[in-house]
Amino acid sequence: MNKADFLSATLAGRRIQPMQASGSQFAPVNIALGKYWGKRNIPGNLPTNDSLSITLPNHGSTTTITASETDLVILNGKQVNPEHAFYRRLFEFLDALDGNRPRLRVETNNNIATAAGLASSASGFAALIGALNDLCQWQLTDTEWSILARIGSGSACRSIANGFVRWHRGERDNGKDSFAQPIDQPMPNLAIGLLTLTDAEKPIGSTAGMKQTLATCPLFNSWPQFANASVERIAQYIETGDLIALLNEAEHNAMTMHATMIATNPSILYWQPESVATMHKVRALRSDGLDVYLTMDAGPNVKLLFDRRQQADVLAAFPNAELILPFEHA
Ligand code: PMV
Repeated sequence: MNKADFLSATLAGRRIQPMQASGSQFAPVNIALGKYWGKRNIPGNLPTNDSLSITLPNHGSTTTITASETDLVILNGKQVNPEHAFYRRLFEFLDALDGNRPRLRVETNNNIATAAGLASSASGFAALIGALNDLCQWQLTDTEWSILARIGSGSACRSIANGFVRWHRGERDNGKDSFAQPIDQPMPNLAIGLLTLTDAEKPIGSTAGMKQTLATCPLFNSWPQFANASVERIAQYIETGDLIALLNEAEHNAMTMHATMIATNPSILYWQPESVATMHKVRALRSDGLDVYLTMDAGPNVKLLFDRRQQADVLAAFPNAELILPFEHA
C-alpha cells in the first residue's frame, strides 16, 4: 500500500470538495513520555510500538484552508516557495488525499518556537486534517482524524486532544487499528520546562533515522518490547497518580531510545554539548533532592519534567526554561 491507499482506506470515498468558504483548525504539539521510534511500515507510518504523550495546551498550529486560483502556502505570515521542503511535503500529502483536488491556499501559524525542537509537523498535520474536515464537512470521528494525521506524520496522530494521549500501535497491515486516544486522567502537578539550548541543525530527520536504526542497530531488537512495557507502566502511573515514578520512567524511556539511535551505524547522535551538560545538571539537582527529570526527541533540546510544587527551585536552576503546566488550560 502506498500513502494514497492508506489514506483512502480511512477516507471511505470522501473527497476534497469545499462545502464552505474556508475551514480552520487548531491542533496542539505533544511531547512523548513513552517514545515512538521505529516503523513497521513506512508509507503508513505504522509504528513498532505504542507511545504515550502529554499535550502542550494552546501551543501548536492553526491552519486555515480556502479554495484558491493557485496552490499557495503561507507559513507564519510568509509565502512559502514551492521548492521548499515544507511546501512539497504538504502538497504531496494533499495530492495523496485526493488526486483531483481543487487548488488550495493553506495558511498555517505556529505559536511555538520551532527552534525549541518541538515537532510542529505533529501539530501541523493534525491541524491540516482538522481544517479539511471543516472545509469539506467530512464529519470525521476522532479515530479517523488521528489515523489521517498519522499518515501525514506519525506522532501527529497524538495531537488530537489535551492531556495524556496513547497511540496504540495496532496489528493490522492497513493501519486501521493504529490511532491515538486520550487518557481521561489528569495529573495536575505535572510541569514541563522547555529548554532551547541550541539551534544546531539536526543530523537526520526522524523517518530516515528510524529506517537506519531498524537496519543497523544491534540493540533495536529489544526496543519494541521495552517500549511497549514502558508505555504500560506509564499508563499505570497515570492511573495511580504516581508522578515521580512516571517521570523516572519517561527519562529511562528517552535514554533507551537514544541508546538505539547512538548504536546505529552510522551513529545518530542528536545530543550537543549543551544537551549533555543539561543531563549532568539534572542529575546533580536530583542528587540534591530535587525531583527533576528530562526527556529528549530527535533533536538537541531538552524538556524538563518535574512536580509543579518544585517549580520555583527548578526555574531558579534553569532560568531560561519555558514553563508549561499541561493541565492548566481553559
Ligand atoms: O512523528 P515523527 O516522524 O516526527 O517522529 C517522532 C519521533 C520522536 O519525536 C523522536 C518520538 C515521539 O514519539 O514523538
